[in-house]
Amino acid sequence: MKPYILAIESSCDDTSAAVLHGRLLLSNIIASQKVHEQYGGVVPELASRAHQQNIIPVVHQALKASGIKKEQLNAVAFTRGPGLMGSLLVGTSFAKAFSQALSIPLIDVNHLQAHIMANFIDEPESENLHPSFPFLCLLVSGGNSQIVLVHSPRDMEIIGQTIDDAAGEAFDKCAKVMGLSYPGGPLIDRMAQQGNPLSYPLAKPHIPDLNYSFSGLKTSFLYLLRDCLKEDPDFISKNQIDLCASLQHTVVDILMDKFKKAVQRYPNVHDIAIAGGVSANSGLRNAFQSFAEEKGLRSFIPRLSFTMDNAAMIGVAASYKWEEKDFCDLSLPPFARVEI
Ligand code: KG4
Repeated sequence: MKPYILAIESSCDDTSAAVLHGRLLLSNIIASQKVHEQYGGVVPELASRAHQQNIIPVVHQALKASGIKKEQLNAVAFTRGPGLMGSLLVGTSFAKAFSQALSIPLIDVNHLQAHIMANFIDEPESENLHPSFPFLCLLVSGGNSQIVLVHSPRDMEIIGQTIDDAAGEAFDKCAKVMGLSYPGGPLIDRMAQQGNPLSYPLAKPHIPDLNYSFSGLKTSFLYLLRDCLKEDPDFISKNQIDLCASLQHTVVDILMDKFKKAVQRYPNVHDIAIAGGVSANSGLRNAFQSFAEEKGLRSFIPRLSFTMDNAAMIGVAASYKWEEKDFCDLSLPPFARVEI
């Protein structure tokens, strides 16, 4: 039997609820919190308060859009972590109460695994092609930059990861020093499309194995601005599109260099995927697809709305746990920090 699953995501600053029939997505509602823009980053206390306000209307909308009555639901899934503790507690408590009220099973989901599983969401009237196991996935978000060897929906092996900042953090912090609002990644992406990526050479790290580092790039960008602003106080506004293009070009190069090495290391893997918020980046999507074409690999990129934090990916990850009847009990706490 294919279950009807209500999925809840509340790990950071997006409150989301989705309804799925097995892996088929029936609805996916996301309420993004605008309150953080003025602070230049997510304020945890404000995020949990906004989740409290959003969660009931968001679930209500998801059920309505799916055409499914709550009595038809077979399970409730929620993000257990990693994420902000106050934010996770809202979704976790809501999911527990909902499952208890309906007497249906509760399924906990790892947020990072779910980002990767976004590549398995089925949609009505879509081709619904998915990677075959094992595949290599570049998981890039505001908090993570990892290369993951995905053996199965539940068995994922990190083969490389950042030793300091994540790629999304590098985008957001560099955007902040240019005076752009949070999150800066999408703004940089938009401006980069009009600029020259070779205008400003920026530092690339020399980190062993398949690991990443983005702190040197951030410092190199900061020093470039500091030196150029001494000469011309309007340097940023006059050169913003070229600065964005150069920064994006360097981040994409760093990400792809290590990913290409990972592909070389696993010659029997023929499918590659990307996931996470930064996988929305147009430069990365293009570089990833060109690389796959050049190497004759099958590439998988989630639809834009499934790259950001969303409950659809939580639901699809939960559908695999449902098949194994892997449910959790009401005493399970959320985890702020947890590996894949
Ligand atoms: O996966 P996500 O929604 O949240 C985390 O779980 O971290 O990722 C958010 C990150 C932010 O750093 C944001 O700036 C970045 O993804 N991002 C982008 C783009 N869209 C979102 N970075 C570069 N280009 C984009 N188009």
